[in-house]
Amino acid sequence: MLVKRVIPALAAIGSAAAQSRTCTVSTTTIHSQADATGLSGCRTVSGSIVLAEDAAGAISLSGPEEITGDLQILNNGALETLQSSSLETIGGEFKMNNVTKLISLDFSELESVGSLSWTSVTNLQTATFGPLTKADQVIISDTFLNTLEGIDLSTVRLLDINNNRLLSTFTSKLGSLSENLNIQANGLSLNVSLPNLIWIANMTIANVTDFQVPSLEIVNGSARFDSNYFSTFSAPNLTETSSGDISFVGNSNLDNLTFPVLTKIGGGLLIANNTALEKMTAFPELESVGGAVKLRGSFKEVAFPKLDIVEGAFDVASTEDINSSCDTLGKLAPSSQGGEGKVKGTYACTSKVADANDDTSSGGSSSGGSGSDSSDGGNNDNGAAGLVLNTALFGLVAVAAVASAL
Ligand SMILES: *[C@@H]1O[C@H](CO)[C@@H](O)[C@H](O)[C@H]1NC(C)=O
Ligand SMILES: *[C@@H]1O[C@H](CO)[C@@H](O)[C@H](O)[C@H]1NC(C)=O
Ligand SMILES: *[C@@H]1O[C@H](CO)[C@@H](O)[C@H](O)[C@H]1NC(C)=O
Ligand SMILES: *[C@@H]1O[C@H](CO)[C@@H](O)[C@H](O)[C@H]1NC(C)=O
Ligand SMILES: *[C@@H]1O[C@H](CO)[C@@H](O)[C@H](O)[C@H]1NC(C)=O
Ligand SMILES: *[C@@H]1O[C@H](CO)[C@@H](O)[C@H](O)[C@H]1NC(C)=O
Ligand SMILES: *[C@@H]1O[C@H](CO)[C@@H](O)[C@H](O)[C@H]1NC(C)=O
Ligand SMILES: *[C@@H]1O[C@H](CO)[C@@H](O)[C@H](O)[C@H]1NC(C)=O
Ligand SMILES: *[C@@H]1O[C@H](CO)[C@@H](O)[C@H](O)[C@H]1NC(C)=O
Repeated sequence: MLVKRVIPALAAIGSAAAQSRTCTVSTTTIHSQADATGLSGCRTVSGSIVLAEDAAGAISLSGPEEITGDLQILNNGALETLQSSSLETIGGEFKMNNVTKLISLDFSELESVGSLSWTSVTNLQTATFGPLTKADQVIISDTFLNTLEGIDLSTVRLLDINNNRLLSTFTSKLGSLSENLNIQANGLSLNVSLPNLIWIANMTIANVTDFQVPSLEIVNGSARFDSNYFSTFSAPNLTETSSGDISFVGNSNLDNLTFPVLTKIGGGLLIANNTALEKMTAFPELESVGGAVKLRGSFKEVAFPKLDIVEGAFDVASTEDINSSCDTLGKLAPSSQGGEGKVKGTYACTSKVADANDDTSSGGSSSGGSGSDSSDGGNNDNGAAGLVLNTALFGLVAVAAVASAL
């Protein structure tokens, strides 16, 4: 039985490793179940497997426990189900792009992949893993999945979940993430819960209904929140962003923002066009900001009771009357503007600016000047020119948006 299976495998692959059950291929292409069955005698496929554009219907890849290279399916509009009851490890990339008929993927033993990149797998409704506990990078974009329960990573470098219209919950035991988390344009009510997350390098979160990070202590880079639907956001244990920004733009329901123990923002702070946010009192312990502070909104009160140093500009404008807040904040201004010099850049605090919510830019229009040391500069016309925000993160969002539009 076993022999009978191994022989066609070797014939199909045209390469030998008879005793070890390691089948060495550089890349083997599967057009049909017969080709897949040809690999069933291999415990390890040393090389990559490609499912061709004409691989159709139901395909089972049972037999191999490991693929050392990639598993790739590109531009396939015929495959409906893909299954393997044995595959545990894919050493390289598990890539699917433009696989439009696949409805279910059942890899019940798969626990480890080098990276996983699924884009435009537009009909995919269920994906079963071992669960998946090890991956360096996971990108899931434009699928029909309503849960990602099979993904159970405790650490990952990059996680990008976008344009999955049915996705309504994402709960993960993730403890750390070393490059970037991107979650955007998924289902209209996506609740994200990361109860164990302690540190994260960067995150860009958009179009989310609920976002819980109760244990988060450090953001090494930047955290950006755009166009979310939540009314409350709290990072109850976050003490600092080591080198990057905090930004909240266009979160139209947000009326309660709290960072109760945050003392340091390594980059800049941008809060703009969150029109329900009346009290800008989210940062009671904030002492230092490595970039600029730019606030635009319908605030009635703005307070930074512990703020001691702002390396860039400090620029607040509200549609409402914040004159009494401005009186207190004025002490932060540079001595040339009559303050105590805690703000190194230009200081501005303005009430009754009718179009305050229209200005959501991070400022600094020249692309070259994204260094973290613009301080005051000589030619600030409206205070915003001195802003320092980490353009790396904003650039990344643009790239993600382009990628998801493909
Ligand atoms: C997607 O794959 C189909 C074949 O299934 C192909 O006709 C189409 O051109 C591909 N689309 C893109 C954008 O590559
Ligand atoms: C982020 O900060 C944490 C806590 O200081 C540290 O352990 C981790 O190595 C940092 N990660 C990166 C990617 O800098
Ligand atoms: C999702 O968020 C993006 C910002 O990243 C925004 O441009 C877009 O309008 C939002 N979509 C919806 C449906 O709110
Ligand atoms: C999602 O979060 C919102 C806001 O916190 C909550 O009202 C809703 O019940 C949550 N939905 C699910 C499915 O957990
Ligand atoms: C928040 O931080 C405190 C002090 O480090 C710790 O005791 C507590 O368990 C943390 N809370 C959560 C939910 O992680
Ligand atoms: C994320 O943050 C780190 C700091 O920990 C920074 O060096 C890096 O450039 C950022 N990466 C991306 C992809 O934005
Ligand atoms: C704002 O949110 C915090 C943290 O979730 C909560 O403790 C507080 O009660 C909320 N405040 C209001 C006015 O709802
Ligand atoms: C706020 O203060 C500015 C300048 O001090 C003043 O011109 C303006 O009339 C004040 N607005 C209100 C509503 O008191
Ligand atoms: C501000 O947010 C509203 C939604 O609350 C949106 O319609 C408007 O386009 C946003 N303005 C800017 C300049 O982004």
